[in-house]
Amino acid sequence: MESRIKSFSEYESHYGSSMQEQESYWGKIAEEFVWKKKWDKVHSGNFNDLNIKWFEGGKLNITENCLDRHLEKRGDKIAVNYEGNQPDSLKHSMTYRELHAEVCKFSNVLTDLGVKKGDRVCFYMAMVPELLVGVLATARIGAIHSVVFGGFSSQALAGRIQDSTCKILVTNDGTFRGGKHIALKGIADEALKNCPSIEKSIVVKRSFQPVEMKEGRDIWWHDQIRDASPKFDAVEMDAEDPLFILYTSGSTGQPKGLVHTCGGYMVYASQTFKNVFQVEQDDTYWCTADIGWITGHTYITYGPLLNGVSTLMFEGVPTYPDAGRFWELIEKYGVTHLYTAPTAIRALMAKGTDLVNKRNLSSLKVLGSVGEPINEEAWEWYNKNIGKENCPIVDTWWQTETGGIMITPLAGITKTKPTFATLPFPGVEPVLMDENGKEYQGNGVSGNLCLKRSWPGIARTIYGDHERYKQTYFSTYPGYYFTGDGCLRDEDGYYRITGRVDDVMNVSGHRIGTAEVEDAINMHDNVVESAIVGYPHEIKGQGIYAYIICQETPKDEALFKKEVLGKVIEVIGPIAKPDKMQVVSGLPKTRSGKIMRRILRKIAEGDTSNLGDTSTLLNPAIVDELKDGAI
Ligand code: WTA
Repeated sequence: MESRIKSFSEYESHYGSSMQEQESYWGKIAEEFVWKKKWDKVHSGNFNDLNIKWFEGGKLNITENCLDRHLEKRGDKIAVNYEGNQPDSLKHSMTYRELHAEVCKFSNVLTDLGVKKGDRVCFYMAMVPELLVGVLATARIGAIHSVVFGGFSSQALAGRIQDSTCKILVTNDGTFRGGKHIALKGIADEALKNCPSIEKSIVVKRSFQPVEMKEGRDIWWHDQIRDASPKFDAVEMDAEDPLFILYTSGSTGQPKGLVHTCGGYMVYASQTFKNVFQVEQDDTYWCTADIGWITGHTYITYGPLLNGVSTLMFEGVPTYPDAGRFWELIEKYGVTHLYTAPTAIRALMAKGTDLVNKRNLSSLKVLGSVGEPINEEAWEWYNKNIGKENCPIVDTWWQTETGGIMITPLAGITKTKPTFATLPFPGVEPVLMDENGKEYQGNGVSGNLCLKRSWPGIARTIYGDHERYKQTYFSTYPGYYFTGDGCLRDEDGYYRITGRVDDVMNVSGHRIGTAEVEDAINMHDNVVESAIVGYPHEIKGQGIYAYIICQETPKDEALFKKEVLGKVIEVIGPIAKPDKMQVVSGLPKTRSGKIMRRILRKIAEGDTSNLGDTSTLLNPAIVDELKDGAI
């Protein structure tokens, strides 16, 4: 059996053996990689003991598999093409050999700074090649990377650095996103006032704006790297050693640091990339995500490099200098595979097809979608105008926790159906749960999506809080991993993800917890309480609706709302800004004091015809007030 699936019957036989002979199936796939020592046992642990291990006893370094392994055969092949925010600015490329050398240099820099195996290194950066180099160098020396998306605020950054006591921060002077300059170093400096664990902050020049360098703490990347040796022997890691931490939002509490490990994650990232996208050796693959999210970890960084593929890395946004930027880049680089989010598709769809038709998109072979449900209209537009009805669309469902794609078509192999993520990847066993916590059998059913068995890419724990890991994912349905998503399985056995069923919103493909936004709003002096719900938004998928109870009626409501937005930006970042805010005198609560979010959601959706039974409310009269004042 080859690891590359080439037909639907091969998919079926892969799937069958992944279910029936799980260990030997994954064992065979893992044999393709460079191991310093072979594993003793392919898999152990389960969703009850939560001591999940893959390739235990195996020794490796993932960067040898991403870089060294390719040098002989494809050292001079482009690993990354890079395009900055402004057209043609900073444009350059790196071959596998060059990337290898840069990674080794920075590995030496980190080592000279005293970073050792197991230490945490935080990245708060622009989408620049140094981010890719830095992440890989961290992995090469056996340290753990924690990339924090460059759109988060200083407080959010500080919280993440503190949670995993990072020793080093790597940042940029600033970055450009569209017409805006974002002063990353300034934001990082604010954060570092409360981060005693950070010993050094390494600054990469990007926007060339003046920054303050703190004596003894801040150092320049270019100074450090100048004389560093381009040779560095990769540190031997256990398959189960942590590779990275990535923070994500849940329905309660502060963001959780999911921990992914070296061996299982590598095998899963590579195997999914290879088969979902079906990339050929001469192709140019482009994933438009940011490395600050899981999509950028698995499908910009590790998946493509493990497969020796050429990728494009882009700093900017789809609408700058105009809404034709994606199409321009596809033509310019001959992009064959485009992997993007429904939000971007919807935003570009709203701009019409003139800019699309100006460009030659004939290089495209495969289109991908990720991060949120794709609505039928966007799917059809993508298919017709971008793929010219000639490129399969892979609608890939997965999560930060799953490490890689879980339910998906394989490009050109699985028959697609608009809005359906279709079928499970080999090794993945999805089940749908009914209200009584029993598995639905058969097809034509909807329920809560769970996963019944472990796969190599699953996050092993929440950093520093294994108990929370158990509680969050394995307590709703004991013995199952609960995804937090609702899902339909149609008559053909195809899966369609219908969205979150918990208090997590998906705003422009970003996961945001309602509790996090409420906590931020409640920090305003004049706020007593707030409740956040998501509502359907044409471009963003979901928008954020805030109901706010004030201490005193604000004299100037517009000013008050501006201040509330300011709080959210300060505590989390601009991505969590409410789209609508309603000042209210109370919230619909049950007698036990629980907010009835169902009612709040309905009002936010503008659907007040059937609010269901409100008689059990402590204060039924509030419902009319909310309805009347709805925005
Ligand atoms: C949602 C992003 C529908 C889902 C990779 C999931 C999707 C959450 C899809 C994870 C899809 C992701 N169709 N919904 N193809 N892909 N989601 O952790 O609600 O940022 O639980 O990982 O995004 O978001 P995360």
